[in-house]
Amino acid sequence: MEPRADIAVVGLAVMGQNLILNMNDHGFTVVAYNRTTSKVDDFLNNEAKGTNVLGAHSLPEMVALLKKPRRVMLMVKAGAAVDEFIESLLGVLEPGDIIIDGGNSLFEDTIRRVKHVESKGLLYIGTGVSGGEEGARRGPSIMPGGSPAAWPHVKPIFQAISAKVGENVPCCDWVGEGGAGHYVKMTHNGIEYGDMQLICEAYHIMKDGLGMTPDEMSAAFAEWNKGELESYLIEITRDILAKKDDDGAPLVDKILDTAGQKGTGKWTVISSQEFGIPITLIAEAVFSRCVSAMKDARVEAAKVFKSSNPKFAGDRAQWVNDIRKALYASKMISYTQGYMLMRAAAKQYGWNLNYGGIALMWRGGCIIRSVFLGDIKKAFDKNPGLTNLLLDPFFKREIKSCTRSWRKVVSTAIKKGIPVPAFSTALAFFDGIRSERLPANLLQAQRDYFGAHTYERLDKPRGEFFHTNWTGTGGRVASSTYTV
Ligand code: 6PG
Repeated sequence: MEPRADIAVVGLAVMGQNLILNMNDHGFTVVAYNRTTSKVDDFLNNEAKGTNVLGAHSLPEMVALLKKPRRVMLMVKAGAAVDEFIESLLGVLEPGDIIIDGGNSLFEDTIRRVKHVESKGLLYIGTGVSGGEEGARRGPSIMPGGSPAAWPHVKPIFQAISAKVGENVPCCDWVGEGGAGHYVKMTHNGIEYGDMQLICEAYHIMKDGLGMTPDEMSAAFAEWNKGELESYLIEITRDILAKKDDDGAPLVDKILDTAGQKGTGKWTVISSQEFGIPITLIAEAVFSRCVSAMKDARVEAAKVFKSSNPKFAGDRAQWVNDIRKALYASKMISYTQGYMLMRAAAKQYGWNLNYGGIALMWRGGCIIRSVFLGDIKKAFDKNPGLTNLLLDPFFKREIKSCTRSWRKVVSTAIKKGIPVPAFSTALAFFDGIRSERLPANLLQAQRDYFGAHTYERLDKPRGEFFHTNWTGTGGRVASSTYTV
C-alpha cells in the first residue's frame, strides 16, 4: 500500500466526519478510521462519496497509508477511549510520529499523555477544537498544545482548515507545551457557559420583568447583534427566539428548563479553586445549570414561595437598553476573570501564553466568537502584561459607561425576585476588585480570635504576622501562617 495520506482521523462521530471533509476540501488526503468499521464504509459511501478520503478497517491498514511522520488525530470521547487508542497506536506507530487528541480532554490528562507518548519517542498534541458541527466543517477555532516539535508538521493542516479573521489570519496558533491547548479550550468553554448564562438572564428579565414575547425579544437580540455585543451566541439566540414549532407557537416556550453539561465548565471552576482565582461568573453559570436541573425541587418550592408581580415599571425600550449594558458589563467581568485564570495557570505550569493570540484564536470559528474579542486582542497587544483587563483604557471607559444601568437592572431584578446570579456576581466582583479596603481585616481578627491564625498589620511591613490574646485567657502560641 502506497503511503499517500497526509493525516488519519480516528472516530467518525459528527466532529470527526466534518473535520475530515474540511481537510479534504483543503487538498489534504485523509484516512478515516473508526472502531466500528462499518461506520467507515457508511461514511465513504455517503458523506465522503466523491471525495479523496480513504478508508481503513484496521489500525495497521491506516498506518500503512500515512506519509511520515505519521499524523493521527483522535476524535473520540474524552476519557478512557483516548488512553486506549494511544496504547493501540503506540503499538503500530514509530518514533517521530504524532498523535493528536482533538476532543475536550481534561488538561491534566493531556499533560500526562504528552509525557507518556514522548517517553516512547513519539510526539503528542492535545488540541481544543471549537465551533461545533458547522465549525468543524467550515472552519473551527483550533487551540493546539503539547510537544513543540510536532507543531511544524501539523501547522499547515490546522491553519488551512481553521476559521479565518481579518486578512485571512487563521484562528489557530501554537498555544504552549503540555496541556496548554486543552487548558485554553477548557477556559473557552467556561467563558462559553458564562456568556450563555448572561444571555439567559437577559432573556429571563425581558420575559418576566418586561413581559416581552419571543418575537419581541428576538428583535431586541437582532439589534444588540449590530453593536458591541455582536457575537455568535447573540445571533443564535435571535434565531432561536424566532423559531416556531409545528403548531406555529414559539419553540423555546416548549423546551424543558433543565440544562445539561458535559463537565468542562465544572473543570474550569475546579482549576480556579486550585489557583485561588475568583472566576465567580463562570462558577455561577455552572451552579445555575445545577439549579435548573433541580426541576422537581423547584416546582415544589414554587408552590410555597410564590413570586409576586415581577413586572418592571417604566419605559420598556429604556429597560432593554439597560439590560444590554448590564450584559455587556458582566461580560467584561467574565473575560477579565477568565484571563486572570489563564495567567495563573500559565505561571503554575510554565506556559508562555500569548493572551492577544488567544483572543485572536477565539475571534472566529468558536462558540464564543465575537467582535468583543477583537477589543481584548487590542488590549493585550498594547500591554501583554495586563493583569486586569478592566484597567485597559478602552475597557475602563466601557465599563464605566455601563455601571448605572447595570446597578439598576441587578437591583430591580433582585427586588422583583427574578434570579440574576451571573449579572449580580459580576457586579459584586467589580465592587470587590475596585475596593481598596475590604472587610477582611475583621475576618482575620476572627480567625486570630478563635484559632490564633495571626494577622498582618497596616502599620507594619507585609510578611510580619501578629497574634493577639483577644480574651486574656488564650495562650501565647500562634498557629502557623501558611495560606493556600
Ligand atoms: C465548542 C463547545 C463544545 C462543547 C459543547 C457542549 O467549543 O465547540 O464548547 O466543545 O462540547 O459546548 O458543552 P456542554 O455540554 O458542557 O454545554
